[in-house]
Amino acid sequence: MSRLSFEENFFGRRPIFDVLKKRLLGLKEGYRQNIALLGDRYVGKSSILQKFLADLDDKDIIPIYLDLNFKDLSYVVMKYVGGLLHHYSKSQNFTLHEDVQLLIESTKKFIPQTAKAIAKIQADMAHGRSLEAYRALINLSEVFTAETNKFCVVILDEFQSLEQLALPHVFQELGKNIMTQKRCLYIVTSSSLEQAKKILSEKLSLLFGNFETIVVEPFDLKTSQDFIQQRLEKIKMGNSLQNFLIDFTGGHPLYLNLILQELRYLCAIHNQNEIYVPLLASAVENAIFNPWGVLSRHFELTVDQLCSVKGSGGAIPPILIALTSGRQKLQDVSRALGLKQSFVSQRLARLVEEGVVVKNGTFFYIKDKLFKYWLKYVLQKQLKAVDVSLEKQREAFLLELHRAVDDFKLASQKDLSLRITELLRRFENEALNMNGRRYRLPTFKKILPAKLKMPQPCFFDVLDASTEEGSWFIILKKDSLCEGDVSAVLTESKKKGTKTLGHIIISLADIEENAKLKALQERMWVWNEHELNTLLNFYDQPYILLGGDPEPIVVEPPPADPQNIEQIAQ
Ligand SMILES: Nc1ncnc2c1ncn2[C@@H]1O[C@H](COP(=O)(O)OP(=O)(O)OP(=O)(O)O)[C@@H](O)[C@H]1O
Ligand SMILES: [Mg+2]
Repeated sequence: MSRLSFEENFFGRRPIFDVLKKRLLGLKEGYRQNIALLGDRYVGKSSILQKFLADLDDKDIIPIYLDLNFKDLSYVVMKYVGGLLHHYSKSQNFTLHEDVQLLIESTKKFIPQTAKAIAKIQADMAHGRSLEAYRALINLSEVFTAETNKFCVVILDEFQSLEQLALPHVFQELGKNIMTQKRCLYIVTSSSLEQAKKILSEKLSLLFGNFETIVVEPFDLKTSQDFIQQRLEKIKMGNSLQNFLIDFTGGHPLYLNLILQELRYLCAIHNQNEIYVPLLASAVENAIFNPWGVLSRHFELTVDQLCSVKGSGGAIPPILIALTSGRQKLQDVSRALGLKQSFVSQRLARLVEEGVVVKNGTFFYIKDKLFKYWLKYVLQKQLKAVDVSLEKQREAFLLELHRAVDDFKLASQKDLSLRITELLRRFENEALNMNGRRYRLPTFKKILPAKLKMPQPCFFDVLDASTEEGSWFIILKKDSLCEGDVSAVLTESKKKGTKTLGHIIISLADIEENAKLKALQERMWVWNEHELNTLLNFYDQPYILLGGDPEPIVVEPPPADPQNIEQIAQ
């Protein structure tokens, strides 16, 4: 088994690269659009940037990459100047010195203005004039592009950490430069979603050069499937086990990557070319149960870090554990732990700020599925165990894992309408935000599956769901949805006779832009994979992944009904 290089290791993210490529073209054509990549910790933002830099092959575009997490100004200066001169030297086929001073020496006769500006920054730094040095540094790309006629891409990874430089108006100063530097594209990233959004809208809300936000999510279901297959190469793994792994990791590239690495390793040492449940269980055990497993250490460090703030320490693990069974309200957590609401509220606010807990409406929940699993089945058991024998805990862990695989298989054998019915039954009039839209999820009293006859010789699976006030019409689509489908649904729904309070279209495939617009115009709710997974996670349900191994258990429709909407017996 050979070691994978970074290039080989990187996977997917095509839509994000398409945008980045478009923005590079725009930059060269005089239309500059800055970008903010926002996403949870470890979701893969820096990897995207590294791949972007590795693929960037244009002598006219000079990248400057700065990782700002926990960095001071002298480091930032060194990296900025070093990066700029390194890539400039590369574009000119000059010697690539490792030392920044040597780079300055070898390039200064070709770019005297830039060299002068660098000398000034260094002098300011040497005399403790930090603000002047910072101002000149963020203007350096302007001096350089004016002198060379090249373009710059300045990448600020974890840009919110600029605050740690403790300089006055650090973002406003940057903003002023961004506005005027037309030959310079800025790409910023952040793991602190709320903080980043605030900075972008309040401090970097610019007259020119505003930021286009791209949210980096874990891999979607299709990409996760492709990723597994690419990583396993010739090793076989049944679809339902693959789907279990996707659900288990929430499609998080880091987790998938590490568990797949473990699986490849186990297959090699056991000389096995097919993965069954016991081997998967061993891989998971090694990664997240064994105290020195790479993911156990990762999660432990995360919790340690969260506990390290003065005064809140001990309460953090129980609060996290209280959230492992799905959404909770502040009152529920306080009551369950016997703690004051004000106390819990402060801790929850910090967990939300750290991106570990999500607040949606009045509910709190943990978004990272694997971390939630670890909290529930490793940390909680460890904390509760009277018998400290690791062997007993290991047995219990493996038993639980097998149960989770069985439960997942059972759930995936149900057909889509049954799965959605189970989800809808959980709605309790909660208010929830998804994809920037607020929904009030109705409490359904009765949900009946039905078939909707469409003009072409085909049926749509629908659910006829009623609340106390009236009925809702829920359309389920496994394949793509077009504009004509939306119109047909409306026509058929009107034929029903009774007034429909609302329509929800749930699609597991692409939704054509026109179909979406038409549906929104008609005030329909349109949920695709992203919204559906948010809801499933919110209610602590496994993801819906089609294409398992066994035949799905389909609830058969009753004999033909003369009406267009055929109700299926429950
Ligand atoms: N597209 C990808 N293909 C393969 N592996 C990936 C991909 N994205 C992320 N990973 C894996 O996840 C790890 C963490 O990703 P990365 O450091 O890019 O995340 P991040 O969002 O920048 O995290 P942080 O918040 O810590 O800065 C990578 O080291 C890599 O192992
Ligand atoms: Mg990063």
